[in-house]
Amino acid sequence: MPQKSENKNDESNQYISWDDERYSINNEEIDSQHKKLIDICNSLYDSHQRGDTIDGIRNALLAIVEYARTHFKDEEGLMSEIGFPGLNRQKKSHREFLDRITGFLQELRRGHQISALRLLAFLKNWIEDHIENEDKLIGSFLKAKKAEV
Ligand SMILES: [Fe+2]
Ligand SMILES: [Fe+2]
Repeated sequence: MPQKSENKNDESNQYISWDDERYSINNEEIDSQHKKLIDICNSLYDSHQRGDTIDGIRNALLAIVEYARTHFKDEEGLMSEIGFPGLNRQKKSHREFLDRITGFLQELRRGHQISALRLLAFLKNWIEDHIENEDKLIGSFLKAKKAEV
């Protein structure tokens, strides 16, 4: 997978586009990690469009697992630090995501064909839904907590 160092999220024709309103949880670190995760998925989409090989897909999946692990660890750390009540639900959801990606990697290892479009659709749906419906709750919790002080 070609590495893109610049942030491509601002471009409107991306597979997944960052939208402050929809995705920002008002925490700079976590927002930038979410942008980076979206970037990696967009690179996978771009390389698929260019007719990338199975190796390209495998490398992209490995990059997603690696980055997601770091991100989940940081995000779970933040949740436990602030006493976020949905921590266990989040942990479960993060684990399920990693399991699914590991499943795709196993299929590849066994020599099975995997549909890049099915994989991309899973990534897009999961990332958009998880950030918008679960991670944003962390932002709301943080906001309410700040208002208390
Ligand atoms: Fe999360
Ligand atoms: Fe997240």
